[in-house]
Amino acid sequence: MESLIVEGKRTLRGRVRISGSKNITLPLIAASLLTDDPVVVEDVPCLLDVGIMKEIVSEIGMGVRCQKHSLYLDASTVNRFSASHSLINQIRASILLLGPLLARFGRAKIYLPGGCSIGSRPVDLHWKGLSAMGVTFSLGNGYMEASSDRLRGNHIYLDFPSVGATENIMMAATLAEGETIIENAAREPEVVELAGLLTAMGAIISGAGTYTISIKGVSSLKGARYRVIPDRIEAGTFMIAAAIAGEGVIIENVLMNHLKPLTAKLEEAGVKVVESKPGTVTVTPPTSLNAVDIKTMPYPGFPTDLQPPFSSLMTQARGVATISETVFENRFRHVEGLTRMGADTWLNGQSLSIRGGKKLWGNRVQATDLRGAAALVLAALVAEGKTEIQDIHHLERGYEDLPLKLNNLGGEVSRKMPQQEHYAQIP
Ligand code: UD1
Repeated sequence: MESLIVEGKRTLRGRVRISGSKNITLPLIAASLLTDDPVVVEDVPCLLDVGIMKEIVSEIGMGVRCQKHSLYLDASTVNRFSASHSLINQIRASILLLGPLLARFGRAKIYLPGGCSIGSRPVDLHWKGLSAMGVTFSLGNGYMEASSDRLRGNHIYLDFPSVGATENIMMAATLAEGETIIENAAREPEVVELAGLLTAMGAIISGAGTYTISIKGVSSLKGARYRVIPDRIEAGTFMIAAAIAGEGVIIENVLMNHLKPLTAKLEEAGVKVVESKPGTVTVTPPTSLNAVDIKTMPYPGFPTDLQPPFSSLMTQARGVATISETVFENRFRHVEGLTRMGADTWLNGQSLSIRGGKKLWGNRVQATDLRGAAALVLAALVAEGKTEIQDIHHLERGYEDLPLKLNNLGGEVSRKMPQQEHYAQIP
């Protein structure tokens, strides 16, 4: 497996541009299955997960053409209702094919999806919501088959505001008979943007971005062109990188409105965050960072995807920070790497405490999931000496050109195959 080598103690300066959002691109690709007309998605990031999603929809017969950062999708040739296990298994977002395939063709066979190993990640809410719309499910060996003669709108209450379940039900409902109301819906910007594309395609949706979304079914949808907004998690990761190892880093193509919980916590820690003009933010760390507590929550709470990078920042703060994870049950796997680098941490169930102010030392550490990998890169930026982060494909799932972007800011990050190295010893 490829590794990333990060030289520590490099100060980041200059400008970085944030790419289009991964978590918006993936449902937009799924949504393009809802029409026979071409759909064009612009500012698509070049990422492993996007590549896998493209392969999945190609396998079921969709025409997929990529030009620069635009994706041209043509579902008029779709002739299969399932993709291979080896592909589906790689990304959790593959479950998003379920709603559109059912809405368009009345059937789908989906292997239970994979993705980051950050918890059990069940699909019961997708299942329950679609069942309420008249879908019949049967379980096979590692897959589910779903079918419906006719999708009917219904009143669906989600036990938890799941992003994926909200998206799946919303897509299915666009072509269902009658009105669907999703209560306790996810309010994430990803849901709002998906509703944006669906509306451009002719769907009738109101309330996206609130707890209650209403979708009035229509008989067909048409093609559309839609631009993906900047990735709020990539932007947040760079804001934290700038706080941990930067000197006035300027981050461009950012929607600060989506980053309020992170901005509030960075400011509480003493970091200066200034939006000099719309979409451009300068992040300047203080001479001494304060420890602050965070608790992850569905949007607009603190995003679970920024919890691992934020925990790296807290290793450098004065005092003890407590990080409570409420969204996923296994999202502290990066902590082993931080501890190997010298961080003083202790875990108590879903709560991580970090006594900051400890010097970190370069070491060989293992990336175990996408955002955990980013956390290790950030820690490595301030560590003494060189860090080797193994299994770096996790990072490539969700960050476009991260090594290049860090190097352009003055970092020293390179890829290489694993081999013996000497690392600084933690005294
Ligand atoms: C999406 C994001 C992911 C982010 C997460 C939460 C994409 C491609 N991924 O994932 O980066 O971390 O939102 O902001 O957009 N759950 C159930 N049953 C279900 C569905 C979910 O119990 O049927 C649970 C999950 O196990 C998890 C929680 O709900 O504990 C949140 O999951 P969900 O909001 O569905 O996240 P994803 O859509 O998978």
